Amino acid sequence: MSRVAYVNGRFVTHGDAAVHIEDRGYQFADGVYEVVLVQDGALVDEVPHLDRLDRSLGELRIDSPMSRPSLQSVMRELIRKNRIRNGLVYMQVTRGVSRRDHPFPKDVKPAIVLTAKRIAATKPEVVENGVKVITIPDIRWKRCDIKTVSLLPNVLGKQQARESGAYEAWQVDEDGNVTEGTSTNAWIVTKDNELVTRNANENILNGITRLSILRLAEREGLKFVERAFSVQEALDAKEAFVSSATSFVTPVTQIDQTVIGNGKAGSMSVQLRDSYLSYAASEGRTQ
Ligand SMILES: Cc1ncc(COP(=O)(O)O)c(C=O)c1O
Repeated sequence: MSRVAYVNGRFVTHGDAAVHIEDRGYQFADGVYEVVLVQDGALVDEVPHLDRLDRSLGELRIDSPMSRPSLQSVMRELIRKNRIRNGLVYMQVTRGVSRRDHPFPKDVKPAIVLTAKRIAATKPEVVENGVKVITIPDIRWKRCDIKTVSLLPNVLGKQQARESGAYEAWQVDEDGNVTEGTSTNAWIVTKDNELVTRNANENILNGITRLSILRLAEREGLKFVERAFSVQEALDAKEAFVSSATSFVTPVTQIDQTVIGNGKAGSMSVQLRDSYLSYAASEGRTQ
């Protein structure tokens, strides 16, 4: 079965899907994106993802390419055509195609592309033993709250992580505090069992999974706080983990050369991972 993509109003074979060379996403990274998890055929946190897409578009003054109900039906059609049970939907909107010039072009329609793919389940040993992260300087711009396709620092950071045998790189600001991973939010659990993640402002992307985890933590009566934490505090933490739509809650058991906790996934990380997975499954039952 060949994969199918959606490009500016048409479903096309993935291999033939293409955008114009003067698409502003290609030339200026002048566009935004979203990634939505598909679990058991259902979209997880669909509405918050679409709300964040609207917010990102608004911040960059890019028009919505289509109405929300139309976009929702394209997402469902794409999942169906690609026969995705567990995977993701990727959507990208750029300012459109125009003769290359920096200012916003006039009378240009935004361009939209959607793809869908399957993702493999996380291996049990990854969940049990956790993953390694490295720390790197945060060299990004000052509007990390906008989910733009301008991801070069993230790409370089993730590559550095891979070359160090790590799963993720935690970016560190000029004050020595962790902002977030290159494609995940960063969390620690302190020795007195307080769950900590960076407060959401312009320095991080406010992850939709992050928000769901905070909600679950509250519901389960866990002690939590949204604030900056230093690399040293992370190294001294009892537990650590990362979150994103496709990594859910992934325990972290090594930061740079330091083993976190006893080197196995921490109990709060495992509890939140399980809660998140049950929550994701419940999303399917309501669609
Ligand atoms: C920089 C960054 N932070 C955090 C996240 C996690 O966001 P979400 O939970 O919405 O997937 C992502 C996801 O792509 C990201 O790119």
